[in-house]
Amino acid sequence: MTEAQQLPIGVFDSGVGGLSVLRALRAALPHERFVYLADSAHAPYGERGDAYVGARTHAITRYLLEQHHIKALVVACNTATAAAIHEVRASHLDLPLVGLEPAIKPALAVTRTGRVGVIGTRGTLTSAKFGKLLGSLAEQAQFVVQPCDGLAHAIERSVARPAPVLGAPVGATETGALCERYLQAMGDFGTAPGQIDTLVLGCTHYIFVAHELRALVGPHVQFIETGEPVARQTRRLLETAGLLATPDGAPATDVSRTRLLTTGPVAMLQAAAERWLGLPADCCETVSVP
Ligand code: DGL
Repeated sequence: MTEAQQLPIGVFDSGVGGLSVLRALRAALPHERFVYLADSAHAPYGERGDAYVGARTHAITRYLLEQHHIKALVVACNTATAAAIHEVRASHLDLPLVGLEPAIKPALAVTRTGRVGVIGTRGTLTSAKFGKLLGSLAEQAQFVVQPCDGLAHAIERSVARPAPVLGAPVGATETGALCERYLQAMGDFGTAPGQIDTLVLGCTHYIFVAHELRALVGPHVQFIETGEPVARQTRRLLETAGLLATPDGAPATDVSRTRLLTTGPVAMLQAAAERWLGLPADCCETVSVP
C-alpha cells in the first residue's frame, strides 16, 4: 500500500450527527482510517446562516488537511454542504470531496402515494442548492418540506441522558416532543392516497431519533437517509484517485483505525460513540479549531 493510501479520510459534522455517516463508512470501507471531527462547540449549524457555517467549514477543512493529512473529506452535514461545498471544492481542487444533500431523488423511486416528506435544518431546506434540487423534481411528486428548528441540538443534548424508557409516550422526551410537533405540522402519514408514505431524513442527526419518528408515523412509512450511498460514493472517488486502502493484516474491526475529535465536551462524543457505534471512550479527544 502506498503512503497516500494509508492516510485517513476526514469526516465532519456540526456535532455527533455525522457519526451516522461514519458508521456506514466504516462498514463499507473496513480497511480505511478515519478522523471524525464533531464541531460541537459551534453546533447547531442549522439556524446560524451561511457565512458562519461557511467559515467553520473552511476552518475545519484546513485543520484536517494540515494536522491530520487527510486524503479525502466527507462533509457529513447537509447544512455545511448546502452552505459551503462549492467553495471548498473550488479551493481544494485535488481533494476527493463528498457532500450530503437530502435524498429526495431516491425517494421518488420509493413513494407510491406521490407525497414525500422532507425534514432537515432551516439552513439546508432554505438554501439555494436545495431549492434548485427541489425545483428540478417538483413535477414528479408532492414534497412536504419541514425545517425542524432545535431538533439537531436536542439530539446532541439527549446523548448525555439515559435512553428513553421503553413504552413511554414519544412526547415525554425533548426530542420526541419536537418530532411530534414537526411531523404533525406536515399532515397525515401512511400508505393511503393523499398520505405521506416516504420521509427523507435530510439531517444526519435525525437517524438517531428514528425510533421516535417511527412511533409517530407508523410502521409502513419508508425512511430515506444517506449514509450508505455516501459510503459508496466515497469508495468510488477513492478508487478513481488510486487512494483506496488495501488490507494491511489488522482486523477490519480494529478500533485504532478511527479517531474521534470534538471541539466541545469530550464526554458527549464518548457517550454518542459508545451508544451508536460501539466505540470505546479512548478513541475520543477534545481539540481546538479556531
Ligand atoms: N447534522 C447536520 C446536518 O446534516 C446539522 C445539524 C445542525 O447542526 O443544525 O444538517
